[in-house]
Amino acid sequence: MFDNVSLQGKVKSGVSCKVAKKMKNLTIKTLVVILGLTVTSSVYAEGDPEKGRELFKICSACHGQNGEGNKDLNAPANGGQNEWYVIRQLKNFRAGIRGADPKDTFGIQMRPMAMSLPDDQAVEDVAAYVATLVAPSPPKTVTGDAEAGKKAFVPCVACHGEKGEGSKSLNAPRLSRQHDWYIVRQLQNFKAGIRGAHPKDIYGTQMRPMAQLLATDEQVNDVAAYISTLE
Ligand code: HEC
Ligand code: HEC
Repeated sequence: MFDNVSLQGKVKSGVSCKVAKKMKNLTIKTLVVILGLTVTSSVYAEGDPEKGRELFKICSACHGQNGEGNKDLNAPANGGQNEWYVIRQLKNFRAGIRGADPKDTFGIQMRPMAMSLPDDQAVEDVAAYVATLVAPSPPKTVTGDAEAGKKAFVPCVACHGEKGEGSKSLNAPRLSRQHDWYIVRQLQNFKAGIRGAHPKDIYGTQMRPMAQLLATDEQVNDVAAYISTLE
């Protein structure tokens, strides 16, 4: 009988020990979740599009009132572009990861504009506003064979999507409804190492060898002509 009692006691304490462990685990997990949330929200405070609207006034001088872009000023469209991508590019310009190469004539013009934003919160705010702008339908300016471009675009689909809509999980921006002359320029810049060669440019580094798949200027123009047909 005595044996029985002590055995029961052992079993009981074993169980309560397990429960205590579980609860401890749970508390730790909860803490991790709460901490995680706090850290995330303080680093990535959600952008405020209303504040962003004010900030965008200076941007619209080149990118247009509705972020439609402006060929005469060499400024691409921002309207319709993915918010996370706009944030990344602005941060890259600010950090000199993009637009710091002396041969990057147009990136050099954009860099001080990104740097004029007071802080990371302003970057988030202006990107949140850009995300509310509608993608334009830019005129076709590049002469190329869209049919040949469609074939050359096959490997690009893996990251940018069938319709050039972009993919957040693959870090690839939207290409559709962007100005064709800008697509050409970026492909040439990637090929020449004017963009995507900075050691800290994690995503540009992934894009560079893809641009190099387009061996000739003709192929670059063809693929840009094809992208300009995508909705
Ligand atoms: C003086 C003209 C000018 C102003 C003002 C300007 N930009 Fe730009 N921006 C450019 C040019 C030119 C480029 C293209 C750079 C290149 O060819 O790599 C560019 C590129 C960009 C890109 C990269 C687009 C892409 O698809 O990768 C973003 C994002 C951007 N600008 C946002 C802004 C924001 C936000 C502001 C306001 C804070 C702003 N720009 C103000 C001229 C300007
Ligand atoms: C492995 C994935 C991947 C593939 C495949 C790929 N890209 Fe990209 N591409 C990216 C990423 C990531 C970026 C963003 C780079 C950055 O953040 O600066 C990018 C950026 C671009 C840009 C710049 C857009 C802008 O707004 O400035 C163009 C243009 C582009 N890609 C065209 C192409 C074309 C054309 C092909 C096929 C020949 C292709 N990409 C294949 C991942 C890819």
